[in-house]
Amino acid sequence: MHQGRVVLILLTMIAAFAVGIHFFTSIIAPPESGQTVLSFDLSRPRTPSEARKLVNPIPVSEEVIQQGNALFHGKGNCFVCHGDTGKGDGEAGVLLVPKPTNLTDPNLHMLRRDGEIFWAMRYGIEGTGMFAYVPRHITEEEAWTIVHYVKTLKAEP
Ligand code: HEC
Repeated sequence: MHQGRVVLILLTMIAAFAVGIHFFTSIIAPPESGQTVLSFDLSRPRTPSEARKLVNPIPVSEEVIQQGNALFHGKGNCFVCHGDTGKGDGEAGVLLVPKPTNLTDPNLHMLRRDGEIFWAMRYGIEGTGMFAYVPRHITEEEAWTIVHYVKTLKAEP
C-alpha cells in the first residue's frame, strides 16, 4: 500500500517533468519555425502586412535623429531591453524569450520597413516582451521619430 503510493508519486513526477520539458522546448523552438533556434526567426514578420504600407510622416533630418536618440535612451526606455547601442543586450532583456531584437542587425533593416518598426512600438508584438509603448509612454509622433533613429543603428554587414 505504502510502496504503491511512492511509485504513484514517482510516476506523477516523471510525467510532470516530461510535460515541463515539452513546454520549455516549444518556447525556445516554436514548432512553426521548423528549426531549433534560440530566438524567433527574423524572416517571420512580427506585424500585420498593413504595417508595411505605413509611411513615416516626419521628414528625416539630423535634428530628428538626435531627438529619436534621446527618446530611445530616455522617455521611450527602449535601451533597457535593446541595450545602449541597440544590440539587444539591455539588462531588462536578458531573461526574455524571445530575446529583444538586435536593432543593429543588417538583416532586420533589410527585412523591415519603417511602418513595421513603428507598428511594433505602437501595438507591441503579441506573446513577447515587446509591449505597446503608444500612448502610455510615447506619442505616435515620438514613435515615428524613434523609427528614424533606429534606422541609423544598422551595422555594416
Ligand atoms: C521590456 C523589454 C523591451 C523594451 C523596453 C522594448 N522592447 Fe522592443 N522588443 C523586445 C523584444 C523581446 C522583442 C523581440 C520580439 C520578437 O522577436 O518577436 C522586441 C522587438 C523589437 C523590434 C523588432 C520588430 C520586428 O518587426 O521584428 C523593434 C523595431 C523594437 N523592438 C523596437 C523597440 C523600441 C523602439 C523600443 C522603445 C520604444 C522598444 N523596442 C522597447 C523587448 C523590448
